[in-house]
Amino acid sequence: MPKLIVVNRAGEETTVDVGDGLTVMEAIRDNGFDELLALCGGCCSCATCHVHVDPAFADKIPAMSEDEDDLLESSDHRDENSRLSCQIAFTPDLDGLKVTIAAED
Ligand code: FES
Repeated sequence: MPKLIVVNRAGEETTVDVGDGLTVMEAIRDNGFDELLALCGGCCSCATCHVHVDPAFADKIPAMSEDEDDLLESSDHRDENSRLSCQIAFTPDLDGLKVTIAAED
């Protein structure tokens, strides 16, 4: 099963297995990371699933929509690696992707 590496706000890394058809947000949430609130449940309207993505995977993750871009603009912690994790479908070619849960806004 492909693996996702999650770095929590304390800087601790955990590797989780990701089942078919999940988004990065669902994989994080389903593994008990309560720092990732994902309040809207993945419909791209809350920005509480903000993560920083390993730049080595920048070419492999899906492009950002205008809605995602707008929502990320509301975060004080946005950087060039920021994404909303609910907008990243976890495909097998993302095996080994590392994401860091963004600081709380
Ligand atoms: S869970 Fe709300 S925008 Fe991602």
